Amino acid sequence: MYTLTNSHGVEIRAMNYGGIILSIRVPDRKGQLGDIVLGHETLEGYIPNPPYLGAIVGRYANRIANGTFTLDGKKYELPKNDGPNTLHGGTTRTFDKVVWDGEPLKGATGVAFSYLSKDGEEGFPGNLKVTVSYTLTDADELIIEYEATTDKATPINLSQHSYFNLAGEGNGDILNHEIMINADRFTPIDKNLIPTGELRPVKGTPLDFTTSTRIGARIDDNYEQLVLAHGYDHDFVINRRSNDNGLVLAARVYEPTTGRVLEVSTTQPAVQFYTGNFLDDSVTGKQGHVYKRRYGFCLETQHFPDSPNHPDFPTTILRPGETFRSKTVFRFEAK
Ligand code: GLA
Repeated sequence: MYTLTNSHGVEIRAMNYGGIILSIRVPDRKGQLGDIVLGHETLEGYIPNPPYLGAIVGRYANRIANGTFTLDGKKYELPKNDGPNTLHGGTTRTFDKVVWDGEPLKGATGVAFSYLSKDGEEGFPGNLKVTVSYTLTDADELIIEYEATTDKATPINLSQHSYFNLAGEGNGDILNHEIMINADRFTPIDKNLIPTGELRPVKGTPLDFTTSTRIGARIDDNYEQLVLAHGYDHDFVINRRSNDNGLVLAARVYEPTTGRVLEVSTTQPAVQFYTGNFLDDSVTGKQGHVYKRRYGFCLETQHFPDSPNHPDFPTTILRPGETFRSKTVFRFEAK
Protein backbone atom coordinates (compact mmCIF):
# COMPACT_ATOMS: atom_id res chain seq x y z
CA MET A 1 0.00 0.00 0.00
CA TYR A 2 1.23 3.48 -0.87
CA THR A 3 0.18 6.67 0.89
CA LEU A 4 0.49 10.02 -0.86
CA THR A 5 0.13 13.24 1.11
CA ASN A 6 0.49 16.92 0.32
CA SER A 7 0.91 20.16 2.27
CA HIS A 8 -2.88 20.72 2.52
CA GLY A 9 -3.46 17.45 4.34
CA VAL A 10 -4.83 15.71 1.25
CA GLU A 11 -4.13 11.99 1.55
CA ILE A 12 -4.54 9.32 -1.11
CA ARG A 13 -3.91 5.63 -0.50
CA ALA A 14 -3.55 3.03 -3.26
CA MET A 15 -2.50 -0.61 -3.39
CA ASN A 16 -0.80 -2.88 -5.90
CA TYR A 17 -3.78 -5.27 -6.03
CA GLY A 18 -5.85 -3.95 -8.96
CA GLY A 19 -4.06 -0.58 -8.65
CA ILE A 20 -7.01 0.18 -6.39
CA ILE A 21 -7.39 3.66 -4.92
CA LEU A 22 -8.39 2.87 -1.35
CA SER A 23 -9.15 6.34 -0.03
CA ILE A 24 -9.01 10.00 -0.97
CA ARG A 25 -9.18 12.36 1.99
CA VAL A 26 -9.79 15.99 1.10
CA PRO A 27 -10.98 19.04 3.08
CA ASP A 28 -14.51 20.44 2.94
CA ARG A 29 -15.22 24.18 3.05
CA LYS A 30 -14.53 24.22 6.82
CA GLY A 31 -11.27 22.37 6.41
CA GLN A 32 -12.75 19.10 7.70
CA LEU A 33 -11.09 16.12 6.03
CA GLY A 34 -13.34 13.40 4.67
CA ASP A 35 -12.87 10.26 2.61
CA ILE A 36 -14.71 10.76 -0.68
CA VAL A 37 -14.35 7.34 -2.34
CA LEU A 38 -16.23 4.12 -1.73
CA GLY A 39 -14.09 1.16 -0.71
CA HIS A 40 -13.09 -1.32 1.96
CA GLU A 41 -10.81 -1.28 5.00
CA THR A 42 -9.14 -4.61 4.28
CA LEU A 43 -7.79 -6.40 1.22
CA GLU A 44 -10.34 -9.20 1.74
CA GLY A 45 -13.14 -6.70 1.07
CA TYR A 46 -11.88 -6.35 -2.49
CA ILE A 47 -11.86 -10.08 -3.24
CA PRO A 48 -14.14 -10.19 -5.06
CA ASN A 49 -14.97 -6.61 -6.04
CA PRO A 50 -17.99 -6.80 -8.37
CA PRO A 51 -18.52 -3.01 -8.64
CA TYR A 52 -14.79 -2.46 -9.46
CA LEU A 53 -14.52 -0.03 -6.52
CA GLY A 54 -11.43 2.16 -7.04
CA ALA A 55 -9.78 -0.17 -9.55
CA ILE A 56 -7.86 0.23 -12.79
CA VAL A 57 -9.97 -1.33 -15.52
CA GLY A 58 -8.60 -3.01 -18.66
CA ARG A 59 -7.37 -4.38 -21.00
CA TYR A 60 -10.59 -2.99 -22.42
CA ALA A 61 -12.60 -0.76 -20.09
CA ASN A 62 -16.39 -0.97 -20.53
CA ARG A 63 -18.11 -3.29 -22.98
CA ILE A 64 -17.22 -5.30 -26.06
CA ALA A 65 -20.39 -6.58 -27.70
CA ASN A 66 -20.86 -10.36 -27.81
CA GLY A 67 -17.31 -10.77 -26.44
CA THR A 68 -15.82 -10.68 -29.89
CA PHE A 69 -14.02 -8.43 -32.35
CA THR A 70 -12.12 -8.83 -35.61
CA LEU A 71 -8.68 -7.29 -36.00
CA ASP A 72 -6.57 -7.47 -39.17
CA GLY A 73 -8.89 -10.18 -40.50
CA LYS A 74 -8.68 -12.41 -37.43
CA LYS A 75 -11.63 -13.01 -35.12
CA TYR A 76 -10.99 -12.96 -31.36
CA GLU A 77 -13.27 -14.44 -28.67
CA LEU A 78 -13.20 -13.06 -25.14
CA PRO A 79 -14.75 -14.43 -21.95
CA LYS A 80 -18.24 -12.97 -21.39
CA ASN A 81 -19.16 -11.60 -17.99
CA ASP A 82 -22.03 -9.19 -18.65
CA GLY A 83 -24.85 -11.04 -20.40
CA PRO A 84 -23.63 -11.44 -23.97
CA ASN A 85 -20.81 -8.89 -23.47
CA THR A 86 -17.30 -8.67 -22.13
CA LEU A 87 -17.17 -5.94 -19.47
CA HIS A 88 -13.95 -4.38 -18.17
CA GLY A 89 -11.64 -6.88 -19.82
CA GLY A 90 -13.13 -10.28 -19.01
CA THR A 91 -13.40 -12.63 -16.07
CA THR A 92 -10.23 -13.73 -14.31
CA ARG A 93 -6.96 -11.94 -14.99
CA THR A 94 -8.37 -8.49 -15.58
CA PHE A 95 -6.53 -5.34 -14.55
CA ASP A 96 -8.69 -4.81 -11.46
CA LYS A 97 -7.87 -8.32 -10.16
CA VAL A 98 -4.13 -8.74 -10.69
CA VAL A 99 -1.17 -7.75 -8.55
CA TRP A 100 0.77 -4.92 -10.15
CA ASP A 101 4.39 -3.99 -9.43
CA GLY A 102 4.46 -0.80 -7.41
CA GLU A 103 7.34 1.65 -7.52
CA PRO A 104 7.45 5.05 -5.78
CA LEU A 105 7.99 7.90 -8.25
CA LYS A 106 11.26 9.78 -8.11
CA GLY A 107 11.02 13.53 -7.69
CA ALA A 108 7.24 13.53 -7.17
CA THR A 109 4.71 12.30 -4.64
CA GLY A 110 3.40 9.29 -6.43
CA VAL A 111 3.51 5.64 -7.32
CA ALA A 112 3.77 3.83 -10.63
CA PHE A 113 2.04 0.47 -11.05
CA SER A 114 3.24 -1.81 -13.85
CA TYR A 115 1.75 -5.00 -15.21
CA LEU A 116 2.53 -7.33 -18.09
CA SER A 117 -0.66 -8.67 -19.62
CA LYS A 118 0.46 -11.76 -21.52
CA ASP A 119 -0.34 -12.66 -25.10
CA GLY A 120 -3.71 -14.43 -25.08
CA GLU A 121 -4.64 -13.35 -21.56
CA GLU A 122 -8.45 -13.05 -21.40
CA GLY A 123 -8.41 -13.68 -25.16
CA PHE A 124 -6.53 -10.50 -26.13
CA PRO A 125 -3.56 -10.61 -28.53
CA GLY A 126 -0.07 -9.41 -27.67
CA ASN A 127 2.12 -9.04 -24.63
CA LEU A 128 0.96 -5.68 -23.34
CA LYS A 129 3.19 -3.76 -20.93
CA VAL A 130 1.14 -1.26 -18.96
CA THR A 131 2.15 1.41 -16.46
CA VAL A 132 -0.35 3.52 -14.55
CA SER A 133 0.95 6.21 -12.23
CA TYR A 134 -0.79 8.21 -9.53
CA THR A 135 0.76 11.55 -8.59
CA LEU A 136 -0.52 13.92 -5.91
CA THR A 137 0.42 17.59 -6.31
CA ASP A 138 0.34 20.56 -3.95
CA ALA A 139 -2.39 22.00 -6.19
CA ASP A 140 -4.62 19.19 -4.82
CA GLU A 141 -4.57 17.26 -8.06
CA LEU A 142 -4.42 13.52 -8.51
CA ILE A 143 -2.73 13.00 -11.87
CA ILE A 144 -3.25 9.60 -13.47
CA GLU A 145 -0.98 8.72 -16.38
CA TYR A 146 -1.35 5.60 -18.48
CA GLU A 147 1.26 4.17 -20.81
CA ALA A 148 1.29 0.91 -22.77
CA THR A 149 3.21 -0.92 -25.48
CA THR A 150 2.50 -4.21 -27.21
CA ASP A 151 4.20 -6.78 -29.46
CA LYS A 152 0.98 -7.55 -31.43
CA ALA A 153 -1.87 -5.28 -32.45
CA THR A 154 -4.52 -5.18 -29.71
CA PRO A 155 -7.48 -3.10 -28.63
CA ILE A 156 -6.82 -1.17 -25.44
CA ASN A 157 -8.99 1.05 -23.27
CA LEU A 158 -7.80 1.97 -19.80
CA SER A 159 -9.70 3.73 -17.07
CA GLN A 160 -10.00 4.27 -13.34
CA HIS A 161 -13.16 3.10 -11.61
CA SER A 162 -13.30 5.17 -8.40
CA TYR A 163 -16.76 5.84 -7.01
CA PHE A 164 -17.04 9.32 -5.52
CA ASN A 165 -19.36 10.75 -2.93
CA LEU A 166 -18.14 14.25 -2.18
CA ALA A 167 -20.26 14.38 1.01
CA GLY A 168 -18.15 11.46 2.26
CA GLU A 169 -18.32 7.76 1.42
CA GLY A 170 -21.36 6.07 2.89
CA ASN A 171 -23.03 9.41 3.48
CA GLY A 172 -26.20 8.86 1.44
CA ASP A 173 -26.79 8.98 -2.28
CA ILE A 174 -25.19 11.34 -4.76
CA LEU A 175 -28.41 12.74 -6.23
CA ASN A 176 -27.93 16.23 -4.74
CA HIS A 177 -24.48 16.65 -6.25
CA GLU A 178 -24.46 19.11 -9.15
CA ILE A 179 -22.57 18.13 -12.27
CA MET A 180 -21.41 19.85 -15.43
CA ILE A 181 -20.22 17.58 -18.24
CA ASN A 182 -18.39 19.28 -21.09
CA ALA A 183 -20.08 17.22 -23.81
CA ASP A 184 -22.57 18.19 -26.51
CA ARG A 185 -22.99 14.56 -27.59
CA PHE A 186 -23.17 11.06 -26.16
CA THR A 187 -23.17 7.55 -27.59
CA PRO A 188 -26.69 6.11 -27.11
CA ILE A 189 -26.90 2.46 -26.06
CA ASP A 190 -29.12 -0.53 -26.79
CA LYS A 191 -30.69 -2.90 -24.26
CA ASN A 192 -27.31 -4.57 -23.64
CA LEU A 193 -25.74 -1.14 -22.96
CA ILE A 194 -23.78 -1.36 -26.21
CA PRO A 195 -23.45 1.83 -28.30
CA THR A 196 -25.73 1.83 -31.32
CA GLY A 197 -23.11 3.80 -33.27
CA GLU A 198 -25.06 7.05 -33.18
CA LEU A 199 -23.54 10.23 -31.73
CA ARG A 200 -26.60 11.98 -30.34
CA PRO A 201 -26.78 15.63 -29.26
CA VAL A 202 -27.55 15.95 -25.52
CA LYS A 203 -29.59 19.08 -26.19
CA GLY A 204 -33.21 18.63 -25.17
CA THR A 205 -32.46 15.33 -23.35
CA PRO A 206 -31.91 14.53 -19.63
CA LEU A 207 -28.26 13.94 -20.57
CA ASP A 208 -27.69 17.64 -21.13
CA PHE A 209 -25.25 18.62 -18.37
CA THR A 210 -23.62 21.40 -20.35
CA THR A 211 -24.78 23.65 -17.54
CA SER A 212 -24.42 22.42 -13.96
CA THR A 213 -27.50 20.40 -12.92
CA ARG A 214 -28.44 18.21 -9.93
CA ILE A 215 -27.63 14.59 -10.76
CA GLY A 216 -31.04 13.58 -9.43
CA ALA A 217 -33.05 16.23 -11.27
CA ARG A 218 -33.95 14.02 -14.24
CA ILE A 219 -32.39 10.63 -13.44
CA ASP A 220 -35.72 8.81 -13.29
CA ASP A 221 -37.27 10.55 -16.32
CA ASN A 222 -39.09 8.27 -18.71
CA TYR A 223 -36.40 8.72 -21.36
CA GLU A 224 -35.46 5.50 -23.17
CA GLN A 225 -31.72 5.90 -22.51
CA LEU A 226 -32.21 6.34 -18.76
CA VAL A 227 -34.68 3.46 -18.58
CA LEU A 228 -32.23 1.12 -20.36
CA ALA A 229 -29.36 1.99 -18.02
CA HIS A 230 -31.46 2.39 -14.83
CA GLY A 231 -30.03 5.89 -14.52
CA TYR A 232 -26.88 7.40 -15.99
CA ASP A 233 -24.40 4.91 -17.40
CA HIS A 234 -23.41 6.67 -20.59
CA ASP A 235 -20.40 7.62 -22.59
CA PHE A 236 -20.16 11.38 -23.16
CA VAL A 237 -18.08 12.68 -26.04
CA ILE A 238 -15.92 15.43 -24.59
CA ASN A 239 -16.01 18.72 -26.49
CA ARG A 240 -12.66 19.52 -28.01
CA ARG A 241 -11.34 21.13 -31.15
CA SER A 242 -10.42 18.60 -33.80
CA ASN A 243 -6.79 17.48 -33.61
CA ASP A 244 -6.53 18.74 -30.06
CA ASN A 245 -5.42 15.78 -27.99
CA GLY A 246 -4.41 17.83 -24.97
CA LEU A 247 -5.96 18.05 -21.53
CA VAL A 248 -9.50 19.44 -21.58
CA LEU A 249 -12.09 19.85 -18.88
CA ALA A 250 -14.42 16.82 -18.93
CA ALA A 251 -16.60 17.42 -15.88
CA ARG A 252 -17.01 19.43 -12.69
CA VAL A 253 -19.01 18.21 -9.71
CA TYR A 254 -20.11 20.26 -6.70
CA GLU A 255 -21.55 18.96 -3.44
CA PRO A 256 -23.54 21.76 -1.74
CA THR A 257 -23.47 20.62 1.93
CA THR A 258 -19.67 20.29 2.14
CA GLY A 259 -18.72 22.66 -0.69
CA ARG A 260 -16.41 20.00 -2.13
CA VAL A 261 -15.65 20.22 -5.82
CA LEU A 262 -14.18 17.58 -8.10
CA GLU A 263 -12.90 18.67 -11.49
CA VAL A 264 -11.89 16.11 -14.10
CA SER A 265 -9.65 16.91 -17.08
CA THR A 266 -8.41 14.41 -19.58
CA THR A 267 -6.66 13.74 -22.85
CA GLN A 268 -9.19 10.97 -23.57
CA PRO A 269 -12.05 11.41 -26.06
CA ALA A 270 -14.86 10.45 -23.70
CA VAL A 271 -16.04 9.99 -20.14
CA GLN A 272 -18.42 7.33 -18.86
CA PHE A 273 -20.73 8.94 -16.30
CA TYR A 274 -22.09 6.12 -14.14
CA THR A 275 -24.36 6.78 -11.16
CA GLY A 276 -23.89 3.47 -9.32
CA ASN A 277 -27.20 2.11 -10.52
CA PHE A 278 -26.03 -1.46 -9.94
CA LEU A 279 -24.92 -0.90 -6.33
CA ASP A 280 -27.63 -2.80 -4.54
CA ASP A 281 -26.95 -3.10 -0.79
CA SER A 282 -24.74 -6.11 -1.50
CA VAL A 283 -21.55 -4.25 -0.67
CA THR A 284 -20.66 -3.40 2.92
CA GLY A 285 -17.73 -1.03 2.75
CA LYS A 286 -15.69 1.15 5.08
CA GLN A 287 -16.94 1.58 8.65
CA GLY A 288 -19.71 -0.95 7.97
CA HIS A 289 -21.37 1.43 5.52
CA VAL A 290 -23.79 -0.31 3.18
CA TYR A 291 -23.36 1.06 -0.32
CA LYS A 292 -26.84 1.37 -1.75
CA ARG A 293 -27.97 2.20 -5.24
CA ARG A 294 -26.57 5.57 -6.36
CA TYR A 295 -24.34 6.03 -3.29
CA GLY A 296 -21.44 6.87 -5.60
CA PHE A 297 -20.75 8.13 -9.10
CA CYS A 298 -17.90 7.33 -11.47
CA LEU A 299 -16.32 9.52 -14.12
CA GLU A 300 -14.40 6.99 -16.17
CA THR A 301 -12.33 8.83 -18.76
CA GLN A 302 -11.82 6.55 -21.71
CA HIS A 303 -12.45 5.75 -25.37
CA PHE A 304 -15.95 4.91 -26.54
CA PRO A 305 -17.29 1.52 -25.41
CA ASP A 306 -17.18 -1.29 -27.99
CA SER A 307 -14.89 0.72 -30.31
CA PRO A 308 -13.30 -2.43 -31.81
CA ASN A 309 -16.71 -3.15 -33.38
CA HIS A 310 -17.32 0.44 -34.52
CA PRO A 311 -14.87 1.44 -37.27
CA ASP A 312 -16.33 4.98 -37.18
CA PHE A 313 -15.31 5.54 -33.55
CA PRO A 314 -11.82 6.85 -32.71
CA THR A 315 -9.52 3.84 -32.87
CA THR A 316 -8.50 1.88 -29.79
CA ILE A 317 -6.00 -0.31 -31.62
CA LEU A 318 -2.44 -0.17 -30.34
CA ARG A 319 0.22 -1.57 -32.68
CA PRO A 320 3.82 -2.72 -32.09
CA GLY A 321 6.21 0.23 -32.14
CA GLU A 322 3.55 2.65 -30.86
CA THR A 323 3.14 3.86 -27.29
CA PHE A 324 -0.30 4.43 -25.85
CA ARG A 325 -0.38 7.45 -23.54
CA SER A 326 -3.22 9.16 -21.75
CA LYS A 327 -3.60 11.45 -18.80
CA THR A 328 -6.48 12.30 -16.48
CA VAL A 329 -6.41 14.86 -13.68
CA PHE A 330 -8.80 14.82 -10.73
CA ARG A 331 -8.58 18.19 -8.99
CA PHE A 332 -10.16 18.77 -5.59
CA GLU A 333 -11.24 21.97 -3.91
CA ALA A 334 -13.91 23.30 -1.54
CA LYS A 335 -16.08 26.39 -1.98
C1 GLA B 1 -19.14 0.75 -15.74
C2 GLA B 1 -20.26 0.28 -16.59
C3 GLA B 1 -21.45 0.02 -15.73
C4 GLA B 1 -21.12 -0.98 -14.64
C5 GLA B 1 -19.93 -0.54 -13.87
C6 GLA B 1 -19.48 -1.60 -12.90
O1 GLA B 1 -19.41 1.99 -15.24
O2 GLA B 1 -20.60 1.18 -17.60
O3 GLA B 1 -22.51 -0.45 -16.50
O4 GLA B 1 -20.83 -2.23 -15.22
O5 GLA B 1 -18.87 -0.20 -14.72
O6 GLA B 1 -20.50 -2.03 -12.08
